[in-house]
Amino acid sequence: MQGGVISCILILSFVSPCLCFTRLNFGLAIKESSYNVMNYGAKGDGKSDDANAFLSAWKNACGVEGVSTLIIPKGKVFMLKDLELKGPCKATSIHIQLLGNIVAPNMDQWGKDKIRLIRISNVKSLKIDGEGKIEGNGSSWWQKCRNCKRPRLLEFYACNDLSVSYVNLANSPGAHISINSGDRSRFVHMNINAPSNSPNTDGFIISGSRNVVFEDSTIATGDDCIAIKAGSSYINATRLACGPGHGISVGSLGENKRRDTVEEVHVKNCTFSGTTNGARIKTWEGGSGYVRKVTFEDIKLIKTGYPIVIDQHYGTKNPNKNAGSLQISEVTFKGFEGTSADGRAISLSCSSNGCFNIILDQINIVSSNPKMKAQASCNNAHGRVGKVIPNVPCMLK
Ligand SMILES: *[C@@H]1O[C@H](CO)[C@@H](O)[C@H](O)[C@H]1NC(C)=O
Ligand SMILES: *[C@@H]1O[C@H](CO)[C@@H](O)[C@H](O)[C@H]1NC(C)=O
Ligand SMILES: *[C@@H]1O[C@H](CO)[C@@H](O)[C@H](O)[C@H]1NC(C)=O
Repeated sequence: MQGGVISCILILSFVSPCLCFTRLNFGLAIKESSYNVMNYGAKGDGKSDDANAFLSAWKNACGVEGVSTLIIPKGKVFMLKDLELKGPCKATSIHIQLLGNIVAPNMDQWGKDKIRLIRISNVKSLKIDGEGKIEGNGSSWWQKCRNCKRPRLLEFYACNDLSVSYVNLANSPGAHISINSGDRSRFVHMNINAPSNSPNTDGFIISGSRNVVFEDSTIATGDDCIAIKAGSSYINATRLACGPGHGISVGSLGENKRRDTVEEVHVKNCTFSGTTNGARIKTWEGGSGYVRKVTFEDIKLIKTGYPIVIDQHYGTKNPNKNAGSLQISEVTFKGFEGTSADGRAISLSCSSNGCFNIILDQINIVSSNPKMKAQASCNNAHGRVGKVIPNVPCMLK
């Protein structure tokens, strides 16, 4: 349908084509227009490929001046393959209302490009909300393609001022959401769900991005709830329930001798429930760069595998004690309470360069296995130990 249907949320609603204006204080006017994918030929039957309809609706929403809304209506299921929503847009801000559900095809029905279901790139001031669900149908991949590269569900590339809320994702073949090269993103009231044995189904992967906020969300997957990778800074995660999964990780970094940096990561008031790790920093031997100014605070543990971990020998079967790695400093673990799965409570395995200014305080970790007492181990870790159970006699000054 050429041009689509422009509907206005305002009192001034005339027959199409209509121009509706919201008055701003300065007498400027902003046009508001909305675009429903159903008006662009989407079937919403869960079987037909609706990607072209989404693309046409997007082109209109993106190409119009002012504020525009893309509507994915409730009560429908849209099957998509390789959808790319590209900016830059003429619209000053775009709102995607994800009210209905989106489903990925089964493995053998994906198109050629099996990298992601939806990629959104170079779009500024994008807001996505609406309680819809993106279902990845990953089980066919996990069984037949355990060791191959599997697609992600949702990728954001170079999207500044992004806000995503009340969106549900499940069963991605690979990671659920990736955030790359963006500034100022917020993810709140998100719900991500995949089985604990699904391979590499991270909740979020962040790289090359700054000012990313996660709040009030539930993440249950087969890999990291959040993986904070190279080039990330000012990342806050608050009030998240993580588990099952591999915890919240900085890294891995420095693979193949790369120079990587991460700084200003603040994880607060989160729960790790049945995760294989809790608060973790992992770097490969031989890399350079740094990880600094990281805090994990007010963390509740429920049978967490390794509640507190620094591992600078990540990915090697035979750790080399003399190998250097990234410089880790100014890392605080404070206010941890609860149970570890077994005796491994605190493990600080730093490279030969040492980690510095590592602070442990107000920690009380008890093993949930009565046969294995909670313990701490360290290697080349320098810092300060406050009130901490179990004892950490291995910390160096
Ligand atoms: C996706 O999985 C759901 C159940 O998880 C199933 O009902 C549906 O048929 C699958 N869809 C496709 C397109 O394979
Ligand atoms: C992130 O957390 C830090 C430390 O708690 C805080 O100073 C900062 O204001 C937070 N930033 C955002 C955007 O919430
Ligand atoms: C943590 O968040 C919960 C809600 O998720 C709240 O009830 C609790 O008071 C918070 N705890 C701290 C220490 O901030």
